[in-house]
Amino acid sequence: MARLGTEGAFEVLARARALEGQGRRIVHLEIGEPDFQTARHIKDAAAAALAQGMTHYGPSAGLLPAREAIARDVARRRGVAVDAEQVVITPGAKPILAFTILAVVDEGDEVLLPDPGFPIYESVVRYIGAQPVPVPLSEARDFRFDPDELRRRVTPRTRLVILNSPHNPTGGVLTPEDLAAVAGVALERDLWVLSDEIYSRLLYSGEHHSIAALPGMGERTVILDGFSKTYAMTGWRLGYGVAPATLVPALARLQTNVTSCTAGFVQMAGVAALEGPQDGVEAMLAEFRRRRGMVVRALNGIEGVRCRPPGGAFYAFPHVDVPGMTSKAVADALLDEDGVAVLAGTAFGAQGEGFLRLSFANSLDELGEGIARMEKGLARLRR
Ligand SMILES: Cc1ncc(COP(=O)(O)O)c(C=O)c1O
Repeated sequence: MARLGTEGAFEVLARARALEGQGRRIVHLEIGEPDFQTARHIKDAAAAALAQGMTHYGPSAGLLPAREAIARDVARRRGVAVDAEQVVITPGAKPILAFTILAVVDEGDEVLLPDPGFPIYESVVRYIGAQPVPVPLSEARDFRFDPDELRRRVTPRTRLVILNSPHNPTGGVLTPEDLAAVAGVALERDLWVLSDEIYSRLLYSGEHHSIAALPGMGERTVILDGFSKTYAMTGWRLGYGVAPATLVPALARLQTNVTSCTAGFVQMAGVAALEGPQDGVEAMLAEFRRRRGMVVRALNGIEGVRCRPPGGAFYAFPHVDVPGMTSKAVADALLDEDGVAVLAGTAFGAQGEGFLRLSFANSLDELGEGIARMEKGLARLRR
């Protein structure tokens, strides 16, 4: 257990709630979940499935109609051929992460992962006794890694590369050239790739590209995606992996051991999400785009702060210069003294030092208030 990590967002949320319990008003910029309701037609589909009696165990890999709908959606949006047999549906996308690492990585193996990056990657890799090998993302490259940096870190023990584009916490987006470079390394060195594409529909320009679409990559890539972010369904717990057919039995067996299956009525809600109107997704993205503009502008107006516009997801990752203080100390002070909850960049890895993560999954008013509190707090801390 000593090797298992956690997610800073949940810890900061708990502290913020405790302060609220003492009567303080806190502005929440720490949580990574859309502040929108799940669309009506999706809720109705779940209610209809419940009314029809879908209250039983189902197959571990998922219900066939749901696996088929996901296969069609993934194939259409990524330009890859996907069979329903390649899809494993899980309660949230998170299990795909742990299941893939458990299935392909042995104790002592090395796993390349982005730094900063979603903390659960490193946590699970360490937990099973494997070695995380951070690949630094650079602000100057809009938080994409340098493919040469990745290549240099590959050893005979490397088994898996974890990609995340659009990226949490930076909003960085890998270009087709970046993906081609990673694919070159993966093919040459016979590596697995776990491609976390949970933010693939939250992109502010251009189209989403998946490494799985590149020649030879389908057989060594697991795509992770789900409904939490795209359809504002975080609490439903619905996600999936798309894996080479040879790996699917392992993922399904892990699911049998851990959760048995994903709730059937929740899977039917997912079918409605994929096949129903997409205007809710578009409206949410338009609102995120508006907030992104406001947040980046406001942050860049604060002394000692610079912020690149994120290419995707709903996070800003500003560099915040407070001499003599770590980003953790800055984030703690902003919460305790100014009542604004943000995450330290180091909650995502050592390379996050000097940065804060703000989620803009909150209203323009709350964002304005939160950034005003930050400005006041930073002016005090920088004195
Ligand atoms: C990069 C990344 N991957 C995976 C997940 C997990 O998503 P889910 O809530 O569907 O398990 C998250 C959620 O915060 C995330 O940010």
